[in-house]
Amino acid sequence: MPEDFIPQSTADGSFTFFSKEFEESYHSQFGARQESFQKFVVPTRLEVVATASKQKTIRILDICYGLGYNTAAALQTIWKSNPDCRVEVIGLEFNPAVPRAALSHNLYADWNFEYIDILTELANTHYVENDNLKASLLIGDARTTIKQLSQSFQADAIFLDPFSPPQCPQLWTIEFIALVSQCLHSEGLLATYSCSAAVRTALLTSGLIIASTPPVGRKTPGTVAAYPNSLQFLTQHPLSTAELEHLHTRAAIPYRDPLLQDQAQIILERRQLEQRNSQLETTSSWRKRCLSQNSNA
Ligand SMILES: C[S@@+](CC[C@H](N)C(=O)[O-])C[C@H]1O[C@@H](n2cnc3c(N)ncnc32)[C@H](O)[C@@H]1O
Repeated sequence: MPEDFIPQSTADGSFTFFSKEFEESYHSQFGARQESFQKFVVPTRLEVVATASKQKTIRILDICYGLGYNTAAALQTIWKSNPDCRVEVIGLEFNPAVPRAALSHNLYADWNFEYIDILTELANTHYVENDNLKASLLIGDARTTIKQLSQSFQADAIFLDPFSPPQCPQLWTIEFIALVSQCLHSEGLLATYSCSAAVRTALLTSGLIIASTPPVGRKTPGTVAAYPNSLQFLTQHPLSTAELEHLHTRAAIPYRDPLLQDQAQIILERRQLEQRNSQLETTSSWRKRCLSQNSNA
């Protein structure tokens, strides 16, 4: 289905697109630009890392590059803190028309963004290199392109930003997230806007520990993940009791895609079957139990 890329405004004045194929916006209606900073760049502590690293290279894996907002927010944050910092970015994106459309619609006009030439070259040639940047865009299904990276690219920050699990389950499965976790440096941080129990289970199953990121605009938090030796970066927002309990209901049954090639519908049906056969409490009965406990308290 061809996408027509009509800019839609969001609450912070920045623009996004709506995908007809995935029946979903590329960003939250509460603010596309705000989401990039607050859900991805702030939780991965890039400002602190950039300030602390005098010579070091910061490596970023931007999964579902899309309009490029998360990479743009990261570059702006890092070079504002430390203009000499060297950055390596790898973006994974299925549809190369998306970043080009963001630029042709001038969607960075009110970002006060100094690096538009970089994003333009990246969108057009999928590669940019200069004294303090090396950026590549790997075009294709991220389930395949990520295999080029496993172990060879150790990211200080991973942005995990697919469409939502019901619309794009293939990029939230146990198997895909296991490959993603192999690209995370032992002291790196992974951020996603999702607080889905199934996604959190996949992160935990990959050997990561998780915390919440504060809700921005909407009610729900996001998630930040790291290897256990980076626990100190996750202590600010531990999971609440309700979030921990949620991980013991059927909602926490993860998406599975054993060969990393199934279509969305197959992955959704596989999970529904596993949920039906599960001994775990249903999420609706857990919610009712919580409500009645709270009203009796
Ligand atoms: C929610 S949008 C990402 C928004 C983006 N991070 C930004 O800041 O603009 C999801 C993106 O995932 C891409 N996508 C969908 N399925 C994919 C797949 N299997 N592999 C790689 N990218 C995919 C879509 O083309 C879309 O650009």
